[in-house]
Amino acid sequence: MGRGTVALDYTDRDASFEWYRKAKQRGVWDPESFDLEQDKADWETEFTDDERYQFVKLCSLFYEGEESVTRTLAPYPLAVGALEAPGFDTLQEEMFLTTQLWEESKHTEFFSRYFEEVFGTQDTDYGGFEAENFWNPELQSFLIDDLEAVSDELRRAVDADQATLVHTLAEAVAHYMGIVEAELARVGYKSLAQMLDAKGALPGFQAAIEKIEEDEGRHIANGRWLMAQLAEIDPTVVEEVYEPMFERFFDDLLGPTVMNIMGDNPLGIDADLLFRTAQGNYQSTVDSIGAERFEADVSAAGD
Ligand SMILES: [Fe+2]
Ligand SMILES: [Fe+2]
Repeated sequence: MGRGTVALDYTDRDASFEWYRKAKQRGVWDPESFDLEQDKADWETEFTDDERYQFVKLCSLFYEGEESVTRTLAPYPLAVGALEAPGFDTLQEEMFLTTQLWEESKHTEFFSRYFEEVFGTQDTDYGGFEAENFWNPELQSFLIDDLEAVSDELRRAVDADQATLVHTLAEAVAHYMGIVEAELARVGYKSLAQMLDAKGALPGFQAAIEKIEEDEGRHIANGRWLMAQLAEIDPTVVEEVYEPMFERFFDDLLGPTVMNIMGDNPLGIDADLLFRTAQGNYQSTVDSIGAERFEADVSAAGD
């Protein structure tokens, strides 16, 4: 902590500073700037009722997920700032996380705008359709209630001892960046991209998703880096936090989530591609943290 000296060491920049720099250059885009006129026309003419149902279901998950991550991120930079001598510059990481909070807000805004202007509703239960099985309860808990709980816990851990703080932060980062962003969001965006490619519709949506995905790439890369830093401070977090978290994802969350997205699958989403994407993302996370730190390949459990 600097007193009489510059707290940010500009000559010794971490990976987080590079993501912060990219955010300044690439993260500056406006959700209000996308023209949605063609999207409105496509929505009326290019989709059957069944397709609309599946698409809105996916977008509901995205809207709720983006709102959830926007609401729960604030304690993360506080917790990072409370780490004592963690082996990396906490200020650079805090600076990056401020860009992430702003970006999540914009993602929430874009989906909110899309619901209003294209779907003609703000109802994420989409009252126009039979709402049975619209949400998968385990996914809803993980994405909303549990993420809120771990964020609350992190807020309290800012004043706790360092061991508790590191452990709680590891749990929060694995939940938020490791699963919600690197797995759930990535799998969801993959299904959207595949479907929109095949359909060739909704150009405003496609353009915005490209920007959102780019933002998410930085959030995920930084999250993996932070998970590795925390494993460096306390190697027990891998076995006690990361592995059980991924086990829960592959055992209880991935299958039901994909099934929920699919339904009767009028849009022709490729479920195998989604499972492969999830496993590939898991492997990238493990490799970033250090494969030698992991005991078992928990991704096999979901097969
Ligand atoms: Fe986001
Ligand atoms: Fe994100």
